[in-house]
Amino acid sequence: MITYFDGKFVDDSEAKISVRARAINYGLGCFGGVRGYLADDGQQVFLFRVPEHMARLQHSARVLFMRLPAPHAELCELVRELLRRNSVHFDVYVRPLLLNNSIKLAPVMREEDSLLTIYCLPLQRYIDKDAIDVCVSSWRRATDSAIPARTKPTGLYLNSALARREAHDNGFDEAIFLTEYGKVSEGSAEHVFIVRDGTLISPPSTEDNLDGITRRSLIALATEDLGLPVLERTIGRTELYVSDEMFLCGTGAEITPVGSVDRRKIGEGGVGPITARLQKHFADVVRGRVPERTSWLTPVWP
Ligand SMILES: Cc1ncc(COP(=O)(O)O)c(C=O)c1O
Repeated sequence: MITYFDGKFVDDSEAKISVRARAINYGLGCFGGVRGYLADDGQQVFLFRVPEHMARLQHSARVLFMRLPAPHAELCELVRELLRRNSVHFDVYVRPLLLNNSIKLAPVMREEDSLLTIYCLPLQRYIDKDAIDVCVSSWRRATDSAIPARTKPTGLYLNSALARREAHDNGFDEAIFLTEYGKVSEGSAEHVFIVRDGTLISPPSTEDNLDGITRRSLIALATEDLGLPVLERTIGRTELYVSDEMFLCGTGAEITPVGSVDRRKIGEGGVGPITARLQKHFADVVRGRVPERTSWLTPVWP
C-alpha cells in the first residue's frame, strides 16, 4: 500500500525510521485513528468526522510539544489523498502517527523533531463477537497528571496492552480500567456506556480517558436523534454489575455490546434494546443513509 511519510507518498516498504528514534526508545509520539466506510453504492467511501480527528491530533501535538507539518484543512486533505492513491473502495482504517524522529539519547521533546506518517489498512469489525465478556483490570488507567490520556500518546498504550493481556489470559475479551480513584475510566481503546432505567450514562473525559469522538457522536445521536436521556457522570465499579445494558465504543470498536462484567451477566447477556437502536442508527449514519448527519462525513471520491 501507499503511505504518507514525511512529506511524500511512498511505498510502505520505504516508510521507515531508525531504531535509534526517540519514538521507539521512549514512546514519544501521538496518533489518531479514523474510519472510512464504504457507501451503499459500493464506490464512495465516507470518512467519519475527519476534521474532529485532525483537531484532536493538533491538540495532542500541542500538549506534547510536537509539530504537524500542515494546517488543519491540509491534514484532512492528506487523508483523502492517501485513500485515493490506494484506490480505496472498501471499509478502511486510517492511522495518522506523529513521531519524535530524533536519534539522540535522552527523552527530550522538541517540535522540530516531529515526523508525520499516515497509513491505512482495510478494516471490518475490530471485535468480532456480538456481546463481549469484560473484566475490570487490576491495572489502573494512567492518570492525566502522569501521561495526558486525552491526547492519544503512543507511550500510553503500554498501559492498554498490559490490561488487554491480563484480560485475555483470564479468558475475557476486553478490560475496563478504573482511575487511580477507583472509578470507571474506559476500556483499553474504547469508551464505556451503561444504561440504567432507560438513561445512558458515560464517564466524562475528566476520568482520565481519551477525548473520544465516537463517545461525543453517540451522545449527540442519542439525545438529538433518538430522544434518549444521557448523563455524563462518574460510574462506580459495582454500578457496572447492576446496569441494564452496557457497551463499549470507539473508532475501532464502533458500538460493541457487553454481555458480562467480571462474570456478572448484564441484562440477558446479549445486545440490549437501547444498544441495538443506537447500533442501527450509528451504522446508518456512517454509511451516509441519514441526510441530517451527512455533515459528519467527508467523501473520499469526487
Ligand atoms: C484509549 C482509547 N479510548 C477510547 C478510544 C475511542 O476514541 P474515539 O471514539 O475517538 O476513537 C480510543 C481510540 O480509538 C482509545 O485509544
